[in-house]
Amino acid sequence: MTNWKPDSWRNFPKVQMPQYPDAATLAEAESRLSNYPPLVFAGEARRLKEQLANVAAGNGFLLQGGDCAESFAEFHPNNIRDTFRVMLQMAVVMTFAASCPVVKVGRMAGQFAKPRSSDTEISGGIEMPSYRGDIINSIRFEGDARQPNPERMVQAYSQAAATLNLLRAFAQGGYANLMSVHRWNLAFVEDSPASEKYEELAEQIGKALEFMQACGIDPDSVTQLQGTDFYTSHEALLLGYEQALTRVDSTSGDWYDTSAHLLWIGDRTRQLDGAHVEFMRGISNPIACKVGPTTKADELLKLIDALNPANEAGRLTLITRFGADGVEKHLPNLLRTVKREGKNIIWSCDPMHGNTVKASTGFKTRPFERVLREVRNVFAAHRAEGSYAGGIHLELTGQNVTECTGGAIDITDETLGSRYHTHCDPRLNASQSIELAFEVAEALKDERRAIANAQASAG
Ligand code: PEP
Ligand code: CO
Repeated sequence: MTNWKPDSWRNFPKVQMPQYPDAATLAEAESRLSNYPPLVFAGEARRLKEQLANVAAGNGFLLQGGDCAESFAEFHPNNIRDTFRVMLQMAVVMTFAASCPVVKVGRMAGQFAKPRSSDTEISGGIEMPSYRGDIINSIRFEGDARQPNPERMVQAYSQAAATLNLLRAFAQGGYANLMSVHRWNLAFVEDSPASEKYEELAEQIGKALEFMQACGIDPDSVTQLQGTDFYTSHEALLLGYEQALTRVDSTSGDWYDTSAHLLWIGDRTRQLDGAHVEFMRGISNPIACKVGPTTKADELLKLIDALNPANEAGRLTLITRFGADGVEKHLPNLLRTVKREGKNIIWSCDPMHGNTVKASTGFKTRPFERVLREVRNVFAAHRAEGSYAGGIHLELTGQNVTECTGGAIDITDETLGSRYHTHCDPRLNASQSIELAFEVAEALKDERRAIANAQASAG
């Protein structure tokens, strides 16, 4: 990696970074963090990269999801448990329908920093800095609460460490047992007003598990069925924090950002000559980049070359987010270009960020119908271009919130207010997430069947 150092990003143009009032306290907090233990190990990030290489080859699927913004206020073991649990439920449905492994990556244990459209916010005639996530300032619009405070990085680190500790315990300590996950899904199907849509698939999974059990394959005999791999990710936005957690891996001699297994660049910070791309090109983790409606094909190719110069499989995931109505206009050309140039990447679909609207009652929301439509349009575009839709990126929670309208338990503009808890963007709730998983499962099954048929007739 030429001319790269963990701090070389400091010499590049920075966007979406806070202005801290005091450089000395910032440097002191960053220096303290740089002596704290890594949150993840390089070997784990490498293992994720291998699993993602399998996805890039069309033999797996990436499920990435969690909060838009984690917060200090919503930090509670039940929230962590429920998001983990809903992702496992989704993964089982998708694994079965598509007959391929699902790689589970949480937007958890570090998803604290948020890009904003404006540096300041005006309310009641008073102007204050915008809220940039709990790792930077407070959401409260009063006093000096909006002033960026470096101590918040340390608090975010400890929350991430505790979250990750619990996730590791859930993943390996027996909670993630395949049989229990199936039982949770049966309960979901039973309670859903749209249960007839899901019964058949749930029943097939039950039969498959009974058959496996009859053959002596169950969590008691095959320990892999007792647990699962679960990885963490967040947007690498606050580069001082990311730099402090970037360490040399003693096994390989390579640099890893140990704040999460996977880091991504947001749609607002993917400038080719900017600080975020500079930082990300040098870390060896698997990384991702958001791709929105303003992305030009030639720019995207340059970005791919900067972030993945060796064209390494599993290194780079492109997360498209055009909105349900923008997919047809933007995606096919990018798919064609990337395919023509032989770039080894994963295409993942974020059906959230292009579908945010204001409800008649004033809430920022996302109609479930639009989310679903973006997913369907993305699968259709990949089918038409002969490329592989390899993942989905969601803002979701296992809690029973009312933030996105629609779904089988129909949330309306009027009922949004009853449990609207998000600190940033509206999230799918548990039942909307599982409904979406059943839909993705069907689409994925068709996609994989079409690819297998095409290969059979070609070979
Ligand atoms: C996000 O993922 O929360 C986000 C800000 O997305 P994007 O960068 O795609 O706008
Ligand atoms: Co968001």
